[in-house]
Amino acid sequence: MLTNFLKTYQQLQNDKFLLPKRQFVTYGLYALIAVALLYLFVDPAPASSTKLSMKAPWIQEEELPPPSPPLPHQGDEKLRSAPAPSQVSAAAPPCDYSDGEWVPDPRPPPYNGTACDAIKDGRSCMANGRTDTDYIYWRWQPRLCDLPAFSPDAFLRWLHNKHMAFVGDSLARNQAESLMCLLSSWSPAELVHRDAESRFRRWVFHEYNATVSIFWSPFLVKGVEKSEHAGVRYNELFLDAFDERWMSQLGAIDAAVLSAGQWFQIPSIYHEGGRVVGCHGCAAEFNYTETSFFGVFRDVVGRTLAEVTRRREDSRGEQLVALTTFSPSHFEGEWNKGAPCTKKRPYKKGEKELGYTETEMRKIVVEAAANAGAAASSTLRFAAVDVTTLANQRPDGHPGPYMRKNPFAGGGRVQNDCLHWCMPGPVDTFNQLLLQTILR
Ligand SMILES: *[C@@H]1O[C@H](CO)[C@@H](O)[C@H](O)[C@H]1NC(C)=O
Ligand SMILES: *[C@@H]1O[C@H](CO)[C@@H](O)[C@H](O)[C@H]1NC(C)=O
Ligand SMILES: *[C@@H]1O[C@H](CO)[C@@H](O)[C@H](O)[C@H]1NC(C)=O
Repeated sequence: MLTNFLKTYQQLQNDKFLLPKRQFVTYGLYALIAVALLYLFVDPAPASSTKLSMKAPWIQEEELPPPSPPLPHQGDEKLRSAPAPSQVSAAAPPCDYSDGEWVPDPRPPPYNGTACDAIKDGRSCMANGRTDTDYIYWRWQPRLCDLPAFSPDAFLRWLHNKHMAFVGDSLARNQAESLMCLLSSWSPAELVHRDAESRFRRWVFHEYNATVSIFWSPFLVKGVEKSEHAGVRYNELFLDAFDERWMSQLGAIDAAVLSAGQWFQIPSIYHEGGRVVGCHGCAAEFNYTETSFFGVFRDVVGRTLAEVTRRREDSRGEQLVALTTFSPSHFEGEWNKGAPCTKKRPYKKGEKELGYTETEMRKIVVEAAANAGAAASSTLRFAAVDVTTLANQRPDGHPGPYMRKNPFAGGGRVQNDCLHWCMPGPVDTFNQLLLQTILR
């Protein structure tokens, strides 16, 4: 698995037996890791070419959404959508939705993935030729309670006159696109802003004056993706600087959904106070101190939430910061050698425990949300959307080769995406949990 693979090399790096002549080998492998990860995370355009895509990072200022009058929506709920869940009584203890199992559900999916234009081509598995559909017919059943079906009407009523921003990496985008499909099958949305690479997008549901946007920010803090050093590409993170592409917009955001983590595993150089303070996965020749990416991730999430609290304007109404926990991948073998994800069913409860990386990355987010919540005011709420276990049980829900159209047409080696999620698919459940988080 990806994470095991990276862990192995992290250990190698720390290994006292690592001889100088092996450094070169390690160096080369890091290059391979960086290149292959970029391939997946950068979301190359779905061209028929299998060449690696290394586009420059795209930075674009966001405009504010145009105001529009609210119009309540009337109509029938469709498909798997359900009416707004009845208000949970104040006395009822909150249910732990993170503990449960996937159970068969014969009902049709909540939207037609082929018809949803919010989906970047890479996740439209059916449109790309995936013909097996069993992975669609499951629902998440928490152990001690029921998870209400996703109600687009309840979501949009909450989002009336509000702006929800998804901030993070391509998994943040995956979740945002799922939400757009869930909501736009109920009420039409207009795409009002989009940058050339679809890394920053904004839609308005005019019937509800509700805005959903996506901000690309894979490190949450300021960073430079894959900058080149001696022929190897490293991320550069500036631990004491924030990513103003989204931070500067906080005043216009009512709910932020933060989702990041995968990029922290890639070789990275860390800056603070204008100098390099550490590195993860650097070639030994750089003489940088090897630093655990777990510690860096904890630091980054903590600093980001503290800064959100610090910048909060007193005059502002309620604000919510939801943090989606780490979403595991399911490469069967060395993912950079085209490892597939061939499972066609979810894991049963207890069949697949969380790995070390997944456990740690999840815990960092859950604890950071709790710490920030304890320090924040009553109108600024922090919550973890704990998807790690339910996502870990879904090896069947990734695009695999269907990350691009007709993957087997050209012959040649096929790249598999066993990290992101097909839509419709398991990622829709992330938004089921998000809805319960905002209503709670
Ligand atoms: C989904 O949408 C596509 C494209 O609009 C359409 O061809 C297809 O029939 C739809 N599928 C279902 C099940 O409605
Ligand atoms: C529409 O929603 C935005 C927030 O996204 C808000 O600033 C604006 O005042 C709303 N417009 C109206 C007419 O209420
Ligand atoms: C790393 O340290 C060695 C030994 O101190 C030195 O010779 C070399 O120039 C240093 N490399 C860099 C890139 O600073």
